[in-house]
Amino acid sequence: MAKLVINGGIPLEGSVKISGAKNAALAVIAASLLAEGETVLENIPQINDVVILTEILQSLGASVFWKDRETLSITVPDDVHCVANYREVKRLRASNLLLGPLVARRRKARISLPGGCQIGSRPMDLHLKGLAKLGCTIGVEHGFIKACCSRLEGNRIYLDFPSVGATENIMMAAAVAEGKTIIENAAKEPEIVDLASFLNSMGGKIRGAGTDRIKITGVKTLRAAKYAIIPDRIEAGTFLAAVTITGGNVRVENVIPPHLKPIIAKLQEAGAWIKEEDSSLHIVGPERIKSVDIKTLPFPGFPTDMQSQMMALLALAYGTGVIVENVFENRLLVANELNRMGAQIKVEGHTAIVQGVPFLNGVSVKAPDLRSGVALILAGLAARGTTEIYNLHVIDRGYLNVEEKLSRLGADIKRID
Ligand code: UD1
Repeated sequence: MAKLVINGGIPLEGSVKISGAKNAALAVIAASLLAEGETVLENIPQINDVVILTEILQSLGASVFWKDRETLSITVPDDVHCVANYREVKRLRASNLLLGPLVARRRKARISLPGGCQIGSRPMDLHLKGLAKLGCTIGVEHGFIKACCSRLEGNRIYLDFPSVGATENIMMAAAVAEGKTIIENAAKEPEIVDLASFLNSMGGKIRGAGTDRIKITGVKTLRAAKYAIIPDRIEAGTFLAAVTITGGNVRVENVIPPHLKPIIAKLQEAGAWIKEEDSSLHIVGPERIKSVDIKTLPFPGFPTDMQSQMMALLALAYGTGVIVENVFENRLLVANELNRMGAQIKVEGHTAIVQGVPFLNGVSVKAPDLRSGVALILAGLAARGTTEIYNLHVIDRGYLNVEEKLSRLGADIKRID
């Protein structure tokens, strides 16, 4: 069984280049289903989630190939299949993003319900309500979402919660609906803005992405475009946290600092020194981390995708910190593994109370999910002795060459297959 072996205690030093954003890549690849002609996407990370989505597109009949390590070419035929089975969807939850573009392109789609996952039940009611408002007949039958329409028509849609995926699915379908759509209480994440920019580069007419009110004027067709996606703010945040926890000194390159505001602010509060330099951040970790409190919220609040990494940091902080997880109902799972390393974390409902300890001990641990997995890597980098991390496939979903990037910063980390 593959594992990562980390000998902790080495401060990270040097510079690291951040890859393209996983969540932007997934949305933009799904949106390429709307395009006529060859779409060329740059800065795409070859992480497992992306590779799986490209395989699903191929199974639908699209021609997909890598032009180079980070550039993807996608050409979608007019008669692209519009069925994604459970076999595919269970490999990748984000294949629910195929629903909007497929129903827009083919007027029908059948996507297996993804179901819940480790971090929560993850319903899709907001996606379905939104698409119904655009004129789809939509329902759930035998574990599949079935959507069809004779035409899509713009409408005013209010989201009960600013769901990232629902905003994206609605935006993609509305881009080619007749007339105007307004999404209110829309998600404001940078990946939403990136998807809107991509759709606009294809001839779409989307305004207001990045605010809670997105206005979309539907166009008849979208032409294929060449587009470079944004860097991954969560990968960047993870490296900033790794430098903080090891007391290192690193330049984190290829970032968009405004996307990282809530993360930078929390790490500074925890004692890190951070200087913005155009598209990079220079960070120096503190001698001892100070405790901070964290509440996860939709953007521009503190991202739920950075919550586990912060828990690892707080485990070693001076004082007690409180983490409140407001986005997913079951996302404090890493506490158990950190406690096995000597942390003192109590979880009650959506809240974790983290009483900092002076050191963690390396032990064998299992990555419960993607972000918890990297949180364990951070803990291992700072722990005394050797940490072994199992269940690596969950980490490979979202991080490109994580152990190589950390090794280049001086970490003693290797993968053993
Ligand atoms: C996306 C990101 C994920 C991130 C999350 C929140 C991708 C591929 N994944 O996931 O990394 O952690 O945003 O920033 O972009 N909800 C409903 N009904 C719905 C949809 C969502 O109740 O129809 C709930 C969810 O259960 C969850 C909350 O809304 O509690 C946020 O989910 P959402 O923003 O939709 O996350 P995803 O798009 O799945």
